[in-house]
Amino acid sequence: MSKILVTGAAGFVGSRLTETLANQGHNVVALDCFLPDLYSAAIKKDRFAYLTTLPNVTGMVADLRVDNLTSIGPVDVVINEAAMPGLTKSWEDLQLYVDNNLHALDRLIRATTSDSLQKFIQISTSSVYGRIATGSEDSPTDPYSPYGVSKLAAEKLGFAHLDNFGLPFTVLRYFSVYGPGQRPDMAYHRFLEKAKTGGTVTVYGDGEQRRTNTYIDDCVAATIAAIDHAEPGDTYNISGTQSVSINEAIETVRAVTGAKLPVDYQPVRPGDQKETRGDISKAQRVLGYEPTWALHDGLAAQWTWQKDRPH
Ligand SMILES: NC(=O)c1ccc[n+]([C@@H]2O[C@H](COP(=O)([O-])OP(=O)(O)OC[C@H]3O[C@@H](n4cnc5c(N)ncnc54)[C@H](O)[C@@H]3O)[C@@H](O)[C@H]2O)c1
Repeated sequence: MSKILVTGAAGFVGSRLTETLANQGHNVVALDCFLPDLYSAAIKKDRFAYLTTLPNVTGMVADLRVDNLTSIGPVDVVINEAAMPGLTKSWEDLQLYVDNNLHALDRLIRATTSDSLQKFIQISTSSVYGRIATGSEDSPTDPYSPYGVSKLAAEKLGFAHLDNFGLPFTVLRYFSVYGPGQRPDMAYHRFLEKAKTGGTVTVYGDGEQRRTNTYIDDCVAATIAAIDHAEPGDTYNISGTQSVSINEAIETVRAVTGAKLPVDYQPVRPGDQKETRGDISKAQRVLGYEPTWALHDGLAAQWTWQKDRPH
């Protein structure tokens, strides 16, 4: 059984990925540094503590930016989920994004390049396409936020290592992931919190911006499929297929929770994407990826997870 390094293992996607891989019997090195900049490090520490109780999981607390990474040792697969996400903060602190999304990747590539490495899966984002992200992987990349710029630079860095040194580098571009464990800064998490407390939700813009959200378990299934099926040098969109506006998503949150959820419309935030609709035909063809979750069911699952948690 191969040895898989998952970075960002204490994060939203990384923790679910680590748990699923471990349950499938893979040996996983779960690495994280509990970055406190976007949301509470305590949430990440709790998730990490749970993961390290699972058979087959070895925890490693390390900051990819600065710590000595030699103890990772040879691995067969790297899945680099670690990043500083969230586009709003990227206007305020570009250094944080360059350090965690680009410089950290450089150090990770150097630490894990070995004869045993079969695949290096870099997790990227629809944000690399820009304000409109509706085409295939061949669409122009024109990031609309510093976050998107930093993630595109990371893709380019990995491909430069592939071209020069044969790093088996492949890219998955996730489209707005949701479901149990979702980051507290993300829209659906915020809406469901307001459903709990009876508050007003803030929407930036007119609410007509559209998304094809990806349910967490679909996202994890695609990522695991990439271990065996993704081609080095290739890039894959990982997205759901149901296109909904924010206003329609709020209607669904109302249906799921029974909350009234009044809306306060505020000006569009710089960097916000107008439409994302991932063309996933390549992931379907090559990875065998087939998203299975409808938004109503996914939000109901997230509500079940979120409703009794402390605010
Ligand atoms: N959640 C989404 O909707 C979404 C959409 C597109 C792309 N992505 C990408 O998916 C990946 C996972 O995102 P997420 O939503 O789970 O975010 P997250 O913030 O919950 O998880 C990221 C994890 O990486 C860790 N990390 C960051 N810098 C690190 C460093 N220097 N050393 C070690 N660990 C570090 C953090 O502590 C955190 O636990 C990221 O690469 C993100 O850019 C996410």
